[in-house]
Amino acid sequence: MGHSRREELWVGQCRMPGFPLTRLRRLRYHPAIRRMIQATHLDPRRWILPLFIHAKGDEKKPIKSMPGHFQLPLSGLRAEIKEIMQLGLGGVLLFGIPAHKDAMGCDALRDSGIICQAIKAIKDVAPDLLVITDECFCEYTDHGHCGVLGRAGNQDTVDNDKTLRMLAWQAVAHARAGADMVAPSGMMDGMVQAIRSALDEAGFTHLPIMSYSAKYSSAFYGPFREAAESAPRFGDRRSYQMDPAAAAEQALREVELDVAEGADIIMVKPALAYLDIIRMVKDNFPGLPLAAYNVSGEYSMVQAAAEKGWLDPRRIALEMLTAIHRAGADIVITYWAKDAAHWLDSSDL
Ligand code: PBG
Repeated sequence: MGHSRREELWVGQCRMPGFPLTRLRRLRYHPAIRRMIQATHLDPRRWILPLFIHAKGDEKKPIKSMPGHFQLPLSGLRAEIKEIMQLGLGGVLLFGIPAHKDAMGCDALRDSGIICQAIKAIKDVAPDLLVITDECFCEYTDHGHCGVLGRAGNQDTVDNDKTLRMLAWQAVAHARAGADMVAPSGMMDGMVQAIRSALDEAGFTHLPIMSYSAKYSSAFYGPFREAAESAPRFGDRRSYQMDPAAAAEQALREVELDVAEGADIIMVKPALAYLDIIRMVKDNFPGLPLAAYNVSGEYSMVQAAAEKGWLDPRRIALEMLTAIHRAGADIVITYWAKDAAHWLDSSDL
């Protein structure tokens, strides 16, 4: 009684009186109150830093399209890993750039390959740091596609089932070298099952799989392909990565299949243009740990605008990370992991 329709609002299940009785600015008046009612908390322990490691000498090579990031030589890992340990990040995700590429991507399978060597080098310095490896072949093949080539209809594309055998082999090689978790990213059907059974047979029943379950065919991967030297030589990845315009619910089918095959953590990628997918997956699989990949293009466009002085990259990055977590991601893979951990400590933000 007493309230006109205009002054009454329904919020959830309760009737909230309107203005002037309710003034939401009261909750924003005092900084301590604002902090007290925050629901999204940024925490470096939930962030994973991607690292690029090359096998071509001892140089630390800047990645032009990703200012602040480098292709690291094996000899440069020690200093990098010490810094990561000090910052308390959740872990690292490794990408290798081999000295030689071939049609099958054999370097990815060898114990002497760049990633197996990198895992051992990292474990030497920091046995407790969570080391995750990307399971895919685009950095290792001379054609730049994510697996062994074959034909489908009248086009050259990746042969799904031959690639599964390669993925199984790759994951076991990484596990033997000391990886703590593997992350298949090639969007092959059955990749989680192939890796799970190979790991189990090899005695790695304890090793979790973080699957790139809903990975879209995205232009936001552009800078990564310079960083990892992995751009396809012909065609694109649309015959295996998801179509951004597909029904959003297709992501749920991908996740459901990966979970049935034994995925422990699932991922949506990219993050920022796919916050709706992150939220939908979280709502539909509330108990399943969800990661989101804040990809290279999302990083580079902010850094480029920052170089022009158009925006404050620190506040933008923290706001983006907040949005990705708020959308439902438990874990974020981000090129800002180190910087953001530093910025969280500074009081001026
Ligand atoms: C595939 C892979 C890619 C990324 C992560 N894993 C590239 C691709 O699918 O083309 C992209 C990550 C990024 O853009 O930061 N190995």
